[in-house]
Amino acid sequence: MKIAFFDTKPYDKKYFETYASKRGLEIKYYETKLTEDTVELAAGADGVCVFVNDTVSAPVIDKLYEMGVRLVALRCAGFNNVDMKHAYGKLHVLRVPAYSPYAVAEHAIALLLTSVRRIHKAYNRTREFNFSLNGMLGFDLHGKTVGVVGTGKIGIAFINICLGFGMKVLAYDKYPAEDLIRSGVQYVTADELFRESDVISLHCPLTEETYHLIDEEALQKCKKGVVIINTSRGALVDAEALLVAIKSRKVGAACLDVYEEESELFFEDCSGHILDDDILSRLISMPNVILTSHQAFFTEEALDNIAEITVDNIVNYLSVGKCNNELCHRCSGVEDCGSRGCF
Ligand code: NAI
Repeated sequence: MKIAFFDTKPYDKKYFETYASKRGLEIKYYETKLTEDTVELAAGADGVCVFVNDTVSAPVIDKLYEMGVRLVALRCAGFNNVDMKHAYGKLHVLRVPAYSPYAVAEHAIALLLTSVRRIHKAYNRTREFNFSLNGMLGFDLHGKTVGVVGTGKIGIAFINICLGFGMKVLAYDKYPAEDLIRSGVQYVTADELFRESDVISLHCPLTEETYHLIDEEALQKCKKGVVIINTSRGALVDAEALLVAIKSRKVGAACLDVYEEESELFFEDCSGHILDDDILSRLISMPNVILTSHQAFFTEEALDNIAEITVDNIVNYLSVGKCNNELCHRCSGVEDCGSRGCF
């Protein structure tokens, strides 16, 4: 069983080798991302293993199919980088639906606390023995209203932390979770959520429906000073509209772990380069924007689970032709019913 592994980082190898060697899986690691230009590296492999910024577009799918590759194993939960409609009848797409929802939820909270208590500024200030509190005034989360879009695994973990802080929780999802309602969470429409929330956190997948969910129109509906948290996928937020709303003081703070145009930048050391992306540069320069480079998932527990589940998915699929974590082709992943076991 041979797998071509794209966009490899040193930490991937460490975790994957432990499980691959146990299960007799041969992995060829490539540092390059999977694209139309690199897809031929997969020749002779049974499948490819890819991450969030690899491209599994129609031309890549056609080339993989032509080379006899039938399997795409995503080592992540999101699958917006796969053209699921085009993959139908050609490739089986496996993913890791849950590896540590706590990793992402806790990171979202870390960003929120950093932002509202100005920890990023305090860290720099005290290193220069500047102990002044001017400009450091924050606000209590207790008693504030948080609006959560998407109440799946990560949304639930995030909400539970917010409830512990004594926040009022509003939620928007097509499939309300009964347990959350019993815990006092109130499901509302997207518009109500935008209007009522002091903090908005996005935990839904990127689909045609959720593309630029936070755009100029949505931001106009928000409270002045709203804090926007995005740890899901960059394109849920129109970054240009966000920048305008930050400049006009409508948005009080933005906590971003993802960015629509992240694919060529995030996970790489670009410190010696001039950044061409003016919107990203401007966002980073704002005192009330905290940006991390898609690191919400990055905990020891998550990496270990990702490696174990991905190797399990591949071995199960290649040995018995079946895997519970195969993405649904029937709805092209659009309804996200893959996570509900619909095939
Ligand atoms: P999940 O599948 O458990 O939950 C997603 C929820 O979003 C579901 O309840 C679904 O009904 C809801 N949803 C779908 N379409 C919606 C819409 N149009 N409006 C409102 N809600 C909608 O997924 P999970 O594990 O909670 O992950 C959520 C997202 O987090 C993933 O799709 C992925 O993009 C992102 N993610 C980010 C990571 C990071 O490192 N920054 C790591 C892992 C996931």
